[in-house]
Amino acid sequence: MKRLEYSATSKLLHWLTALIIFGVLPAGFILEDLPEGPIQNLGYDLHRSFGFLILLLAAARLAVRKMSGAPEAYAGLTPFERRVSTATHHTLYMLLVLTPLLGWAATSAFPVKISIFWLFELPPLAPQSEALSKVLFKMHAISAIAIVVLLVGHVGAALWHRLVKHDGVMERMLPARKS
Ligand code: HEM
Ligand code: HEM
Repeated sequence: MKRLEYSATSKLLHWLTALIIFGVLPAGFILEDLPEGPIQNLGYDLHRSFGFLILLLAAARLAVRKMSGAPEAYAGLTPFERRVSTATHHTLYMLLVLTPLLGWAATSAFPVKISIFWLFELPPLAPQSEALSKVLFKMHAISAIAIVVLLVGHVGAALWHRLVKHDGVMERMLPARKS
């Protein structure tokens, strides 16, 4: 039978990612401007830990997609809308993997130890080098900005379907309603 909406697992992973990314993204931009000290350090520890969690969630989402598939594109979309939405989703998945990896590599090259929720440390992903760290942090920032740009379109499109077109696109990602 053709599935019309996302599975409960896919929905849970999607909304968990959204919740975390709406904290990690602004934190990344704000932390640099805080005075150096324990608050900034705590902020960086949390940014790195939750950023790593996003990488794990992206891997889990891609594994779920591979194993149990995803619903076909919403039937009411024009071929153009279908192409744009598929390209946006694929690019977002790529950036959800790339951005944390760049942050991890840049921090390793700096070098700063990466403690995940004070439980364990990540192994270094890149050799110590100030120049390399600078380039990788630049790429980390560009990758994060690309997420912001795509999210403006993604969330805008979801709201447009829900509030203007009143079609069933948003429902595919919302908790199932008992009828
Ligand atoms: C308020 C925030 C958000 C809303 C309202 C929203 C809404 C949606 C909806 C309705 C879909 C299903 C689209 C379809 O049926 O074709 C979807 C899919 C998707 N969303 Fe979001 N989203 C939000 C935040 C995010 C965030 C923060 C990310 C990642 C950075 C994200 C990444 C994705 C991806 C990758 C898919 C495709 C899922 C798949 O096909 O496996 N979304 N979103
Ligand atoms: C999807 C996950 C992530 C997002 C969206 C994200 C986003 C950001 C953003 C927007 C900035 C500010 C960039 C700038 O203006 O220069 C930033 C900075 C930073 N990020 Fe991330 N980040 C993520 C994951 C990580 C991870 C996993 C690590 C390390 C393990 C990390 C380490 C850092 C550090 C240390 C900075 C500060 C760079 C500086 O002060 O120049 N990030 N991040």
